[in-house]
Amino acid sequence: MSTHGHDSHHATTTSSGTFTRPLIELRLRVNGIDTVCVVHPMARLLDVLRESLHLSGTKEGCGEGECGACAVLLNGELVCSCLVPALQAMGTEVTTIEGVAPSLATLDRVQQAFVDCGGAQCGICTPGMILAAKALLTRCPQPTEAEIREGLAGNLCRCTGYTKIFSSVLRACQADGATTEGGER
Ligand code: FES
Ligand code: FES
Repeated sequence: MSTHGHDSHHATTTSSGTFTRPLIELRLRVNGIDTVCVVHPMARLLDVLRESLHLSGTKEGCGEGECGACAVLLNGELVCSCLVPALQAMGTEVTTIEGVAPSLATLDRVQQAFVDCGGAQCGICTPGMILAAKALLTRCPQPTEAEIREGLAGNLCRCTGYTKIFSSVLRACQADGATTEGGER
């Protein structure tokens, strides 16, 4: 278990503001590791991940729940971490892009498909896209292209024109043993 943060009664400055009220010990499981960090109860999960836990793979785009760049899995459900207060994440299991690959040496099949199909350009949208794709493939293992478009509708990309992203997700569904080593998590 790892602990992060400050004395629970001192002022703390984060990108969400400066807080002087008592903070909370946020206990949650992130990418399979039990974690405790001291944060304001209304701090955004996005900031907890990026600033307290240094998991900078989760990106901030709009900060308003409109772009999906900050998407993570919370108890398996896709959420915009910019909209989730820390208190709401208490006791939950969070998966970020850092927790998707089965090992340091092997990419997840969706990640591999993005590599193979050129599904990422600047990469800002990519972590959220991959987590949205994984959420989709969990509930719908063989989606049609229309279902992929619908499943990724909450994730915006300014670079790719989306075609290669949709191709990447289709490729991930079709992936054989050559690209699924380690399998779906
Ligand atoms: S940063 Fe959270 S949805 Fe855009
Ligand atoms: S690759 Fe740049 S925003 Fe999607």
